Amino acid sequence: MARDSMTRRDFMRVGAGAAAIGSAAKVTILDSARTMASPRPVPPSDRLRFASIGTGVRGCEDLATALRAPGVEMVAVSDLYDGRLIAAQEHAGKKLDTTKDYRRILDRKDIDFVIVGTMDHWHAKIVEDACAAGKDVYCEKPMTHKVPEGFSIIEAAEKYGRMIQVGSQRRSGVVFAKAREIYESGALGQVTAIEAWMDRNDPSGAWVYPIPPDANEKTIDWERFLGDAPKISFNAKRFFRWRGYSDYGEGLPGDLYVHLLTGIYTITGFQAPPQKAVAGGGLYRWKDGRDEPDIIWTLYTFPGMTVSVRCNLNNASQGGGTRVYGTKGTLDIRNEDSVTFIPEDTRPQPERYSVDGWPKQLREEYWAKWNQEHPAPPLSSLTAIEESQTFRAPDNYDEDLAHMENFLNAVRTRKPCDEGPVFGNWTAIACHMANYSYFNKAEAVWDEKARSIRT
Ligand SMILES: NC(=O)c1ccc[n+]([C@@H]2O[C@H](COP(=O)([O-])OP(=O)(O)OC[C@H]3O[C@@H](n4cnc5c(N)ncnc54)[C@H](O)[C@@H]3O)[C@@H](O)[C@H]2O)c1
Repeated sequence: MARDSMTRRDFMRVGAGAAAIGSAAKVTILDSARTMASPRPVPPSDRLRFASIGTGVRGCEDLATALRAPGVEMVAVSDLYDGRLIAAQEHAGKKLDTTKDYRRILDRKDIDFVIVGTMDHWHAKIVEDACAAGKDVYCEKPMTHKVPEGFSIIEAAEKYGRMIQVGSQRRSGVVFAKAREIYESGALGQVTAIEAWMDRNDPSGAWVYPIPPDANEKTIDWERFLGDAPKISFNAKRFFRWRGYSDYGEGLPGDLYVHLLTGIYTITGFQAPPQKAVAGGGLYRWKDGRDEPDIIWTLYTFPGMTVSVRCNLNNASQGGGTRVYGTKGTLDIRNEDSVTFIPEDTRPQPERYSVDGWPKQLREEYWAKWNQEHPAPPLSSLTAIEESQTFRAPDNYDEDLAHMENFLNAVRTRKPCDEGPVFGNWTAIACHMANYSYFNKAEAVWDEKARSIRT
């Protein structure tokens, strides 16, 4: 092969290929101790007593997670459906004080913290009442249903000196901690784009959950469920499949975007809501009365960067992922399980495309000069080419437990949680901006001064 027809890049690729044949891609298992406090004995004086408010699917998972941590005891539960009061006690493995009126729980002086796992339209009211009653709070994501709620939660936490952890567990995840470390090291160069997605393709993924046969107005406190939502007559579908209705949830942004955005904020260290959002999508398939779309795609503007987030309930081939694109490398994150750093080939290259149109003599002079200024590297240096590296969470790693432990530590030490209400507010506002743009068919702009979204 003539030297001219083999650029330095070609030369290095041969080397990279040769190196790749001899060695498998490098995989490192991450140390879970990075983000997870290890089990330790807790003195009786440090025991924490808690109650759960809202013990559906997630509320029961949360209470079980809290009970895995040392020195924690569950004493009470509030839910609006009889079946869930029973399920909570089954998960706790003991009889609990039960009520459909959460305020009775907040009156108890022996409770240190509450876990709030209700539908989203109840989060703010319960969190604020809990703060006023002197309880710390683990509140499920998204923190809010409406924009003003975020600021009143922050105020309540400050006024009553309470710890609040918002339940987007990626914030405590070992994979996202590693991604942040790589991002902060500068190895990615200038990052100007991030994309993230989470896709599903089955009834459960589209929230078409079965309705328990005993669901009726006697077993469910329907009036209380509605709260400040529009008054309508009993509708079990809305109670159990609430995510599809903007009266109680925020559809895909509130359900899934918030996880993706929590990961993105954790990596980048963004300190504010997005500047702008443009969303599009539609309700194409799951037309069961819901008003939320089954696909929504949003382009966010952040300082110096464009972020695209997508959730699709009609095709799951791409699963879930986050990619961070920089001038020197890419981070490829698969769900919460692994992060791969892929270096860009940034070695100097001779200009080929435009020079090919030059006269022969000028072209040859250009190549000769370029080759003189960029001598081919010695063969021995070819093995030094940077390879992709993958970092995986250990098999037994539990992000939920890491996030709960982080909260319990804050309750005991009064040092702030990893995902306090200020952070929870940023990602919740980002979700609200996506819905605002989608429903208003307009660009959503965050107005920091007015603390509101406008067109
Ligand atoms: N972090 C995660 O990975 C994750 C996963 C799933 C759900 N979530 C969040 O958890 C929350 C609950 O989701 P879910 O799937 O468990 O919903 P769910 O419908 O299974 O459970 C919600 C429960 O809240 C109860 N409830 C509502 N208002 C109440 C009130 N005023 N007082 C007491 N109980 C009340 C309902 O009776 C219901 O049983 C949502 O905010 C959701 O976004 C988070």
